[in-house]
Amino acid sequence: MELLSELLGDSPVMTALRETVRRLLQPGRTRLPPILIQGETGTGKGLLARGLQAGSARADRPFVEINCAALPATLLEAEMFGFERGAFTDARQAKRGLFQTAHTGTIFLDEIGLLPADLQAKFLKVVEDRRVRRLGATRDEAVDVWIIAASNENLQAAVREGKFRQDLYHRLSVVSLEMPPLRERGDDVVMLAERFLALASADYGRPPARLDEAARARLLAYQWPGNVRELGNIIERVALLSEAPIITANLLDLEPGPAPSAAPLAALSAVDVVRNHLMSALEHTGWNISAPPASCASPAIPCWRGWRSAVSTPIPACPSVVTSSDGSPLARRAGRCPPPQKRRGSGATRHSSLLDSREAAVRRIRTRWS
Ligand SMILES: Nc1ncnc2c1ncn2[C@@H]1O[C@H](COP(=O)(O)OP(=O)(O)OP(=O)(O)O)[C@@H](O)[C@H]1O
Ligand SMILES: [Mg+2]
Repeated sequence: MELLSELLGDSPVMTALRETVRRLLQPGRTRLPPILIQGETGTGKGLLARGLQAGSARADRPFVEINCAALPATLLEAEMFGFERGAFTDARQAKRGLFQTAHTGTIFLDEIGLLPADLQAKFLKVVEDRRVRRLGATRDEAVDVWIIAASNENLQAAVREGKFRQDLYHRLSVVSLEMPPLRERGDDVVMLAERFLALASADYGRPPARLDEAARARLLAYQWPGNVRELGNIIERVALLSEAPIITANLLDLEPGPAPSAAPLAALSAVDVVRNHLMSALEHTGWNISAPPASCASPAIPCWRGWRSAVSTPIPACPSVVTSSDGSPLARRAGRCPPPQKRRGSGATRHSSLLDSREAAVRRIRTRWS
């Protein structure tokens, strides 16, 4: 398979990025340095991380993804490093962490800029020593993992502000890759729009369509604060709502909004991160809102709470056991959930009948997480 084949774009910045990756992933090279991917939201950092793994000698090894913003510090630590039986109340059996699960493969730490301070120190030790210690354990375990981290925030600025450890930043950014914003990718925006239009037309069984000159010019002039994700959503909406064989600038309905701030990377708040995570998780489930996306499945995850408000109906009682990403019990929650509420009928049916359109879900998510 061609290297980074999913990551579309022929602009000079994307060609340079591909060349860097090609040099990095020499065939047979299994020992790889930590990689830091930075870029605005929706620029394709997650896609690049998966492409790096797929193009590396670790392609058939585990790829484990952790969103550092998605769990409170204590759960994140247990999730990352695992725990021994009895390490905390209700730790009835030992469990390995995601680092151990990723052994021989790759671990992708998304939103690394939001890793809590005490975990930054523990994580630095893992990066340096390649050893992890489960909660409650007295011995370390060796792990062979390729570490890829990503951040929407400008980590150098976070270091200057004392929010992110300088030593960890240097350790993680042995190779630093920058995903360029869409507005700096020239004709890529038109090429991506045409590709998304062809895909959406095929998906929704509508006749093929093309962009007229004015539509192309509008795409090129727009600032794309949400980058490729925003472009994909706009083209999908146009494909869904119009049967026209020629897509005009008016159909795109793009406001020539204000230019984004001069800072190359916008610092996102935790709320921004949850909203983006929720939107991206729903994107992956095809906007099926009848059940929380797998990555939001735990009530401990802020994203889950966003999903709950998005569907605006009492969700079944918080389960007393918080499950980890592989579905196994992680820890029993103490007194943080409201008492169970009695519900009539199937929750899924009620949720879907209350909110059966993606537009409504998006509106609610934006309102709740704004
Ligand atoms: N170059 C690209 N070619 C094709 N699709 C792309 C490209 N870049 C991004 N996408 C698509 O855009 C969406 C957002 O990409 P992705 O989730 O990787 O962005 P991100 O930078 O990780 O965003 P966030 O910071 O919000 O997590 C996905 O649907 C992805 O498939
Ligand atoms: Mg991402």
